[in-house]
Amino acid sequence: MNTRAVTAGSPEGERSAALVTGASRGIGLGIAQGLARAGHDLTITARDAGLLEKTADDLRSWGVRVHPVAGDMADEDDVRRIAHAHTGAHRRLDVLVIGAGVGSAGAVGNAPMRRFDKQFAVNVRGPLVLLQEALPLLRETAARNPARGAKVIALASITGLAPEPALSAYGASKAALISLCRSVNAEVSADAVSATAICPGYVDTDMSAWTHDRIDPTDMIRVEDIVELALAVTRLSARAVVPEMVVTRPGERPWRA
Ligand SMILES: NC(=O)c1ccc[n+]([C@@H]2O[C@H](COP(=O)([O-])OP(=O)(O)OC[C@H]3O[C@@H](n4cnc5c(N)ncnc54)[C@H](OP(=O)(O)O)[C@@H]3O)[C@@H](O)[C@H]2O)c1
Repeated sequence: MNTRAVTAGSPEGERSAALVTGASRGIGLGIAQGLARAGHDLTITARDAGLLEKTADDLRSWGVRVHPVAGDMADEDDVRRIAHAHTGAHRRLDVLVIGAGVGSAGAVGNAPMRRFDKQFAVNVRGPLVLLQEALPLLRETAARNPARGAKVIALASITGLAPEPALSAYGASKAALISLCRSVNAEVSADAVSATAICPGYVDTDMSAWTHDRIDPTDMIRVEDIVELALAVTRLSARAVVPEMVVTRPGERPWRA
């Protein structure tokens, strides 16, 4: 049982609550585990309902309440349903992690539009719908705990800040996600709701496995490193706004993915 669970959140003694998309695998799973360890109740979401249920069972071993809600971030009705399910289950939202994302290769000259649409649906449109649904509860939670506020943490990418050959549509979608985070800060950080876009190069997960023929997984950023940064953001006071965190791999060309 996690003894810190009752102290992680607010002055009212309630536990913090977080909603994590893409929580069944990779970086999102790592962040969900870190948040559970720190005593946050959770709503977790991804498409594979079976894996999500198993993940929820594992996370409950830290003594927190975990509400799994399966859904597709490319489906607007699903995104709204996920947000409503979180509100019904927890009644507060201290941390929103926009983790779900998809990527596929394609240069500007030949990027297939079907893949462009998919990446923008999951990486940009879904997060915007989720933000629209979540902002009232984020603001309400921040008003109840103004010293800490409420945080949005989006898993963007270094490709949203610097061009990566053959990742044109993916990079454009992540640039849009970074922009959404900046807009959140411009619009509501004065009300203690702030957003941070974490922008890593290649992280060793399923998503980056397609590059193993040219980048050894041991040369990639570790999931644990991204989790540390995300958890640090959750511990900041509302007086510190961190719009972006860039995480590069070692070497002579730090701005490449
Ligand atoms: N790995 C990298 O090198 C890297 C680098 C920079 C940024 N990022 C970003 O970090 C985030 C996490 O990446 P990752 O490497 O951890 O990916 P991952 O291992 O492929 O995991 C992706 C997660 O998102 C969920 N997901 C995928 N498509 C979804 C959809 N349409 N609707 C709902 N959930 C969906 C997956 O579950 P289901 O399949 O069950 O839905 C899974 O839980 C992504 O936004 C990615 O763009 C990754």
